[in-house]
Amino acid sequence: MKFDNPAQENPIDQLNVVGRPHDRIDGPLKTTGTAPYAYEWHDEAPNAAYGYVIGSAIAKGRITSMDVQAAQKAPGVLAVISAENAGKLGKGEKNAATLLGGPKIEHYHQAIAVVVADTFEQARAAAELVQVEYQRERGAYDLAEEKPAVTTPPEDTPDKKVGEFDSAFASAAVKLDATYTTPDQSHMAMEPHASMAAWDGDKLTLWTSNQMIHWCQTDLAKTLNIPEENVHVRSPYIGGGFGGKLFLRSDALLAALGARAIKRPVKVMLTRPMIPNNTTHRPATIQRVRIGADKDGHITAIAHESWNGNVPGGPTETATNQTEFLYAGANRLTGLRLAKLDLPEGNAMRAPGEAPGMMVLEIAMDEMAEKLEMDPVEFRVINDTQVDPADPQRKFSQRQLVACLRQGAEHFGWSQRNPKPGQVREGRWLVGMGMAAGFRNNLVMTSGARVHLDAQGGVTVETDMTDIGTGSYTIIAQTAAEMMGVPLDKVMVKLGDSAFPVSAGSGGQWGANSSTAGVYAACVKLREAVANTLGFNPDKAVFAEGQIRDGDRSVALTDAGALSAEDSIEFGDLDKKYQQSTFAGHFIEVAVDVATGEVRVRRMLAVCAAGRILNPKTARSQVIGAMTMGLGAALMEELAIDTRLGYFVNHDMAAYEVPVHADIPRQEVIFLDETDPISSPMKAKGVGELGICGVSAAIANAIYNATGVRVRDYPITLDKLLKGLPELL
Ligand code: MOS
Repeated sequence: MKFDNPAQENPIDQLNVVGRPHDRIDGPLKTTGTAPYAYEWHDEAPNAAYGYVIGSAIAKGRITSMDVQAAQKAPGVLAVISAENAGKLGKGEKNAATLLGGPKIEHYHQAIAVVVADTFEQARAAAELVQVEYQRERGAYDLAEEKPAVTTPPEDTPDKKVGEFDSAFASAAVKLDATYTTPDQSHMAMEPHASMAAWDGDKLTLWTSNQMIHWCQTDLAKTLNIPEENVHVRSPYIGGGFGGKLFLRSDALLAALGARAIKRPVKVMLTRPMIPNNTTHRPATIQRVRIGADKDGHITAIAHESWNGNVPGGPTETATNQTEFLYAGANRLTGLRLAKLDLPEGNAMRAPGEAPGMMVLEIAMDEMAEKLEMDPVEFRVINDTQVDPADPQRKFSQRQLVACLRQGAEHFGWSQRNPKPGQVREGRWLVGMGMAAGFRNNLVMTSGARVHLDAQGGVTVETDMTDIGTGSYTIIAQTAAEMMGVPLDKVMVKLGDSAFPVSAGSGGQWGANSSTAGVYAACVKLREAVANTLGFNPDKAVFAEGQIRDGDRSVALTDAGALSAEDSIEFGDLDKKYQQSTFAGHFIEVAVDVATGEVRVRRMLAVCAAGRILNPKTARSQVIGAMTMGLGAALMEELAIDTRLGYFVNHDMAAYEVPVHADIPRQEVIFLDETDPISSPMKAKGVGELGICGVSAAIANAIYNATGVRVRDYPITLDKLLKGLPELL
């Protein structure tokens, strides 16, 4: 089904099942420990051996020798596989660095070998016996050092200019020119990257933990130089992804190579300390923001430039995305710069682009409001735009930023805030409030599904869509139940299998809207098949309560017998004709210990406008998870680089800090009533990434309001606050 006109009224609008707060249908499987994760497919792949991955001990250079003799003779060892004996490997389209390095080394902890043994302990012990000699080369590991040399944008992301920024900024009555930094971050999904592989002749089955089944399948086929149809990928349950599992990674490749070598299933899990350097991470940025406004606070000039580093072929972090669209202003400049670094590959992490971009832009807006002596909510409200500032003919599909901000301010008690920093004291605590806008673009992706109606009136949905803890199973079941007029418990959803139609997958917060739209399309076809079978006009028939009806004629669906249909949703150019984005208002209260600089976030509120909310319960869970991650980004998360040796030092969960329950206060989420007929037949949009965008800046702004200390360098740790806090008497 091609979707290229705004959605008309359709069966989803009944909202008998969709739009209601259903519990996750996979919840019982997860909470009872019976949902099989990637490392647990023992029944399907019995007698699996264990692979232990060896990571490079240098960041850049060459392996000069690898002695595996002692390892090969160690107890239980079945094979040692490296680039030397792995056969000729190709490379996946989505991978910048190769997944099995050697002799050339592209980054620290790049996999250089896998030791396969009967037990995990044997594999690990034998890996210690592999002797590797390297020739180390000098690398570039410090973005700040590389930055001055990078003055032009990458070819595929030219600077975007509207009007005349330079002259407008020069003549602005009030202006800000500030530079901010965000650090490298690691996804730290609870479930590590893990895979099991089994070969049957030249056909491979891979059980893995991956957000994008089709990308995994095609890139694994390319890497192994085998036909795509010989690779069967299964990933029905995933213990968190956050962008870290968008791509084929070394666990999958090395499991496949190990299993091929020993002709027996092999399982490979990356140990926690391997993950930050072996896989991808969110790259650090240096961002410069300039804003000019007239005396009344109308923005006349806005510029946002962002630098990040990456390995050759690694992507640019598009941290200026939101600045193209969030605020009005006739004169604009956004630009991206990409430095070459020899750190591990930087790539997507929850809301790539906007997450780090909003961390910065929304502090800059707070600073600007202060210069203007304006309330930060009002400053944003008067700079709202209902059209794309670069193309006034182009409207937003829906844009309720102002309503998010107004409702949030009202609900949070914003009027109680003292605009003068450092004034509110409760014993040892300095107390403050901060706010930020939230913004994340709404992307749409082709998505397919197959639906079956059985003779008992049950509906089964099959799609390679994934559920990374997000609620995909549930909203897909709700969609099929609504379309076919059956109760939710009559719907069975099967996900995460490359044997099923290719879906949007889970990424870029496009999953919910796009994948359910694909299920909608398949159900439209199934409804036609049922109508035709039972002699109804498909355009007039109503599906409800297990029946198909038209006027006073109704027939049970079970009378149709078994029927199947398959279709996909394809999106036309509505995302070009309209700007599709999601909006939020974030409000935060913090208390900062006047002696130690310890920050406690006391209250968090997000008001979101993101199209139809398909399931308010799962959507709320997405947003509170994202708010939690935003708090981590504000206060804790940072991969520390050893700039001499070129690796992330704190590569485990002892030293890479993320929030725990005790760090998180009561979180409130309000969804504004919205349906967006431009986005899809579901009239929904994404929320899973919107929820993080803006949170960290709201916390930074609250800390400023509490203390008067402005920190422009994330994370906002105690050391950055201490010197600005008042003297204790
Ligand atoms: Mo998302 S960072 O595209 O999984």
